[in-house]
Amino acid sequence: MTRKRGIRLFFAAAAALPAYTANLPEHRIANIFQPLATPAQSEYDIAMLVFAITGIIFLGVAGLIAYTIWRFRRPEGATEKQEPPQVYGSNQIEVAWTVLPILIVFVLIGVSARVIAAVENASPPQAALKVTIIGHQWWWEVLYPDYNIVSANEVHMPATRDGRHATYLQLQSADVIHSFWIPQLSGKTDLIPNRTNFMWMDPKEPGVYFGNCAEYCGTQHANMLLRVVAEDPAAFKQWTLGQQQRVVDDSRVSDGRQEFESLACINCHNISGLGKASAGSKFGPDLTHLASRQTLGSGVLKNTPENLRRWVNDPQVDKPGCLMPSMKLTPDELTKIVNYLETLK
Ligand code: CUA
Repeated sequence: MTRKRGIRLFFAAAAALPAYTANLPEHRIANIFQPLATPAQSEYDIAMLVFAITGIIFLGVAGLIAYTIWRFRRPEGATEKQEPPQVYGSNQIEVAWTVLPILIVFVLIGVSARVIAAVENASPPQAALKVTIIGHQWWWEVLYPDYNIVSANEVHMPATRDGRHATYLQLQSADVIHSFWIPQLSGKTDLIPNRTNFMWMDPKEPGVYFGNCAEYCGTQHANMLLRVVAEDPAAFKQWTLGQQQRVVDDSRVSDGRQEFESLACINCHNISGLGKASAGSKFGPDLTHLASRQTLGSGVLKNTPENLRRWVNDPQVDKPGCLMPSMKLTPDELTKIVNYLETLK
């Protein structure tokens, strides 16, 4: 391919992008250069320090090479090879290029060790919010053990400028290794089967932070999107109250509820209040407050009634390979089920 054609193709692809993403939730670019929590900030600082040190070394070495090339170039008109004066053995230079790198390495080790200890060893204060995250192929289960809340794919937590409200995450996996990463809040931590890992974050600004699974975990790894919804403490409290509320059965959608209970939905999805049949169904995301969430299918679709219909009708269209099959519902069944699910605020 010619270079010109390549460039044209690149711009064509870039122009086509908005059309492709129109159906997706707003993906703000998750940026490690805009840290908004303590762990991300200290990791950013150390990255900048390393960048500065290596940058100075690069400029020094590249500058010397450039200078040498220019200074000792072959004089114009000269036909014979000419060499600059050769220097053999210099104790000062030997000592300098041994001691300097050692000092640099020790500085980097010391600073890294301090940051790693501060990020990894922080133990949760009594009052910290505790959240358990369980990675599944290809979605996130989100549990608030102290509040008795079960949710999926978005993690709500309080945010305060002074970092008083830290959230501690216990990370587990139901199947293979995943990795939890919200670039603006913290580094990556793996979710490993039969093991519990920890991480913490203290968002300084309310907002929706985007992230993704950061460890290849199968077909739909790229669509294992994550969002942290950081709110001021009062709004977070409000959210917990809403999630704890038992959904009132709306008699207008009772036929949809019956469809849900009589079809296979109930074998994989829990809706609290539905009774024994669905309690303990943990194979798919808990749907108790599905309508309060921002996305469907772990971030592939915005949570709107049209998209919910599209998703339930055939999840394989938007997330090929995901573990939910198309149930081949009739349009009437689909309407009833979607209307019912829409009431689960
Ligand atoms: Cu989960 Cu990649």
